[in-house]
Amino acid sequence: MYNDKVMDHFFNPRNVGEIENPDGVGQVGNPICGDMMRITLKVKDNRIEDIKFRTFGCGAAIATSSMVTELVKGLTLEEALEVSNKHVAEALGGLPPQKLHCSNLAADAVRAAIKDYYERQGIDVDIEVGHDEHGH
Ligand code: FES
Repeated sequence: MYNDKVMDHFFNPRNVGEIENPDGVGQVGNPICGDMMRITLKVKDNRIEDIKFRTFGCGAAIATSSMVTELVKGLTLEEALEVSNKHVAEALGGLPPQKLHCSNLAADAVRAAIKDYYERQGIDVDIEVGHDEHGH
């Protein structure tokens, strides 16, 4: 059901864990299945210097979590905010249709963590977290 890239990110997930003293924390739950994802990140000179995830969820959720950390690491915050759940699924070479909702967590958790970072800096920004591009 899953392609090789998804399997690789599931069996060898990148950037697993939790950053100590993070600059931003994002935690989101998937309303469809109840799975959860937590992102911690470090920001330096407006770039994501380091990022780690913990995901309590299915294989597709873990693979998308892993992929999104690879995609946004090193990006500016503005660039990272542009990464959508769809990009993550595409970067993985696609997910089975019934598993597309699993990719909803990844980009949302990153956005939530960036939002948290801005809030900690006292910067007022309007970041949408938790909107669903797959029409559920
Ligand atoms: Fe919950 Fe995949 S079944 S994220």
